[in-house]
Parts: sequence; structure tokens; C-alpha cells
Amino acid sequence: MAQKRADHYTRSDCRVCSATRLTRFLELGPQPLANAFLDDDMLKAGEEEMFPLDLYVCRACNHVQLLDVVSKETLFSHYLYFSTVSRTIPSHFAALAAEVAARHTTRGDLVVEIGSNDGVLLSAFEGTGLRALGVEPAANVAEVARRRGVHTMNKFFTEDTAGTIARELGKAKVVIGNNVIGHIDDLHSVMKAVKSLLTADGTFIFEVPYLVDLLEMNEFDTVYHEHLSYFAVRPAKVMLERAGLALVDVKRQEVHGGTIRCYAKHIEAGEPPSATVQDLLALEERLGLGTMAPYEAFAGRVQRLRTELLAILEKAKREGKRVAGYGAPAKGSTLLNYCKIGMEHLAYIQDTTPAKQGLYTPGMHIPVVPPARFQQDPPDIALMLAWNYEAEILAKEAAFRRAGGKFVIPIPMPRVV
Ligand code: TYD
Ligand code: ZN
Repeated sequence: MAQKRADHYTRSDCRVCSATRLTRFLELGPQPLANAFLDDDMLKAGEEEMFPLDLYVCRACNHVQLLDVVSKETLFSHYLYFSTVSRTIPSHFAALAAEVAARHTTRGDLVVEIGSNDGVLLSAFEGTGLRALGVEPAANVAEVARRRGVHTMNKFFTEDTAGTIARELGKAKVVIGNNVIGHIDDLHSVMKAVKSLLTADGTFIFEVPYLVDLLEMNEFDTVYHEHLSYFAVRPAKVMLERAGLALVDVKRQEVHGGTIRCYAKHIEAGEPPSATVQDLLALEERLGLGTMAPYEAFAGRVQRLRTELLAILEKAKREGKRVAGYGAPAKGSTLLNYCKIGMEHLAYIQDTTPAKQGLYTPGMHIPVVPPARFQQDPPDIALMLAWNYEAEILAKEAAFRRAGGKFVIPIPMPRVV
């Protein structure tokens, strides 16, 4: 993996409503790219690019976002994130596929997924009689999907791509975008592409982490350069309406630390928003998401989290305890770099993703090792960087805890279990 120089620019307007009054409320950087793990050669070369990692809120539509944009070709042409890394995500997606097949489509309809990753969701449509197509820009990930038999276009989803699909396969009854809308800089053009691809009665279903959960649970580590937007319902509605789509329903989900699944239709279909849409808009109003107060309070809690986490790690060091990291997710990079946690704190990080093993974490350069190391050489304390899989990991590592091992779970405030 040769280190290419990344293209980067800083925007000056809101990517949802184009207003230019944006207020910065959290500075986490400069930071390296969260998935830019280094090999030995890159580590020796000592060159690592850093980019500002600052969160802003738009004072017109409340959209929380990064303004520093690293080009999508740099971030997404070769990708290290595979949806199948856990048990939680495949079962979450199987339930979504079952819902789409039962409620939003009939046999023979086309379902298109944007950012279809390794095909985990679309493979769940097998046997439903639906036609499924994935659009995935990362060649290495698209290849994995194809090998498991999922029809996949190795492209970015653009107005052009949507046009090609509509010509060759017809319009889509359902377009799905899970954990991808927040990664898109030019939201408006992608929304127009979705609009053009949907049948007149079609549904656009997308999942994004929910800003309310992010703020309440102090999930600052989910902020990294790939994630350009942090959606609340209100700005999501503004984004859709600009493209002629209407938000008709929202369901809160537990995955990824709190997610909203949004359902949109053509405005022309005339479907009114559900009670949940109204309830969440009211909740966001009550929380004052149109004012600076909740963002400033969040930034204060994030600083306190860093102080408390470092205190736990320093104490472990003084007591001669060995600490290792558990999971090397992208969010771990933000947490380690923001808190300045390096090898003086963590001996290694174990991760199940073969593509990450043998490499070093961005910025703090902690070696990533296979899970076998954790079994053979267990630490006294494991810092759970993949805290979004807490239940799954605690169940899997019951023996480690029975033998006296402890986990530190950093979010929402560090605690030892
Ligand atoms: P994830 O939190 O899904 O993603 P992100 O990179 O978007 O923050 O990544 C979870 C990481 O944790 C992934 O690299 C796999 C790893 N992992 C383990 O090593 N062991 C486990 O038991 C689980 C559930 C995940
Ligand atoms: Zn805005």
C-alpha cells in the first residue's frame, strides 16, 4: 500500500442548505485518516498526512458536519471496512432485507443499494424473487461481494450511474443507503440521483447514526474524515426536500451507537410524515439543537472523558498492569489520537480483520495483531475501542473476565467492567 498524497479542501457552506453561517464547536485535530493504517515501510518513511478534524453546526438548518473534505477517491477507492466484521450487523441487515421484501416490494422489483460494501445486505435478498444491485466504489470490497454472488457495480453512485442503471435494469422500487449518506460531500447531487432512479411509488431507505445519540452518549470518536455529516431528523428532511423527496417515516435503531432509519418517497406521492417523524422533530426542538448549548455541553463532556480515560490508563501503568486495545475500528483512531494514547499505554491492539493485522494504527502507531495474540498473551486490562459491539464482545470474552481480566469501556464515560 503506497502512501498517496490526499486531495483535501475546506468548504465554507453547509452541505445541506448552502448557508454560510457555521459555528465550530469541537476541535479534535489535526488527525490522520482513521483507516490509514501503516505498514513497516510507511512507518519508517515517517510521512503521515494530517488534516483538521473539526465539527461545525450550521446556524440555519442545524446540520452538524465537517467542512474539511478529503477526496472520496482517497478515502473510498480501497477500503478496510467490511460490514461482515461482527455478528450484530449481518443480523441487523437480514431484518431490513426481510422488511423490504415483505412491505416495500413485490417479486421482480429492483432493489439498489448504494455503498453495498461486501454485499452483506443484498445477499439477504437471495430467494426473495427481487432483483438486487449493489453500487460500491471500493474495488477490493466490491470484489468480495461479487465472489459471494451479489451483482455489484464498482462505481461511485452519481447521477450518471443512476442513469445507466435506469436504462439497463429499469427504475428501482427501493434504493437503500446504509451508513453512506453521511460520507457524501455533494449530498444534493446524490439525492437528485436517488430521485431519478426511484419508481413513482418507490421508497428510499437510508440509515445514518443519529446526532441525538451521538451527543447524549458522547460518541465523539465516531467523528473522522470519512464521516462528513452527523444527521438529526430536521436537516435530513431539508436535504430530501431540496431534491423533491419527502421524509415519511423514521425508526430509531441500536446499531452503531444509535442510528435512524429514514424512509423517503417522492414529494409527488403525497404521503404525510408519520407520528415518529413529528415526535423526533419535537425532541430535537426540546433538546435545543437549534442553539449552541447542547454542542458546547457535549464538547465539555468530551474533554472530561479524555481526562478520566487517561487517569485510568496512567493508574494501570503505575500498578504495572498490562493494557491492550480490543478492536481497531476507525473510531479507535479518533479516540487514540485525541487522547494521545500510544504504546506507552497499549502494548498492542487485537483485531479480527485480516487486512488490518500486521499494520500500525494511524497517528499513534500501535501494532494491530490477530486475536490469537490476545488469547496467548492476555493483558490485565483491555480497552474496548469497538465499544459499539460491547454485548457481543463481553459474551465472546467471558473466559478473559473469569480469569480476572477487565475491560475499560470508554464511551459514554470510561468505566471498568
Ligand atoms: P466498527 O466499529 O464496525 O467500525 P468503524 O471502523 O466504522 O468504527 O469496527 C469494528 C472493528 O472491531 C473491526 O475492525 C473489527 C473489530 N472487532 C474485533 O476485533 N473483535 C470483535 O469481536 C468485534 C465485534 C469487532
Ligand atoms: Zn445548513
